[in-house]
Amino acid sequence: MKKIKISPSILSADFSQLGNEIKRLCSAGADMIHVDVMDGHFVPNLTIGPPVIKALKKSSSIPFDVHLMISPVHKYIESYANAGADIITIHPEATDDINDSIDKIRSLKKKVGVSLNPETKVEIIEKNLNKIDLILIMSVNPGFGGQKFMPEVLSKIKELVEIRNNKKLNFEIEIDGGINFDNAKDAVAAGANILVSGTTIFKSNNGNIKKNIDLLRSV
Ligand code: DX5
Ligand code: ZN
Repeated sequence: MKKIKISPSILSADFSQLGNEIKRLCSAGADMIHVDVMDGHFVPNLTIGPPVIKALKKSSSIPFDVHLMISPVHKYIESYANAGADIITIHPEATDDINDSIDKIRSLKKKVGVSLNPETKVEIIEKNLNKIDLILIMSVNPGFGGQKFMPEVLSKIKELVEIRNNKKLNFEIEIDGGINFDNAKDAVAAGANILVSGTTIFKSNNGNIKKNIDLLRSV
């Protein structure tokens, strides 16, 4: 059983205070910072790009877990690596050749994440799993914070755990979207070991982020 890690999504942070929000997350015991990058094309929302990530990285003592929801993603991988991403997560649908994009991330010495949308099947990346550090299971359709968790994706987590055991692999399993104190238990029971959360961490318990991180970690 892998240690449970918490990756707060800054999508729900106060955007006028992002540097301070990141410092607050570091002091509150977050394991990494989840940065949602959206392009208004792969997903119907726009967020932040490499210069902002580069500036924010200075406020962080923990890794940046950068979730790229942009297409075509391949030509931008290097910019995000240079900006300070420690984990670079891409969607298979956003690149012409997932194998090339994985190799690109590895060549830049960053951790490789691949994200599966709710309707995307595990088979799409099964033969690449030996080169992947992390699978990000989307439990909402990507694009916005504050959506409702889709419990049907938990079966993919169980499937991945089985493949990991059978093939003696070591990738981590992260879940993203609509995580709260109830469904976090189900995600961990299914085999997820990294929980992304925006709304629950920033808005529950009057925004007491330390309490919310501790509660999520101990579900
Ligand atoms: C959705 C993003 C998520 C989202 C999580 O496209 O990838 O990271 O911000 O936010 P909550 O926890 O509010 O669903
Ligand atoms: Zn995300």
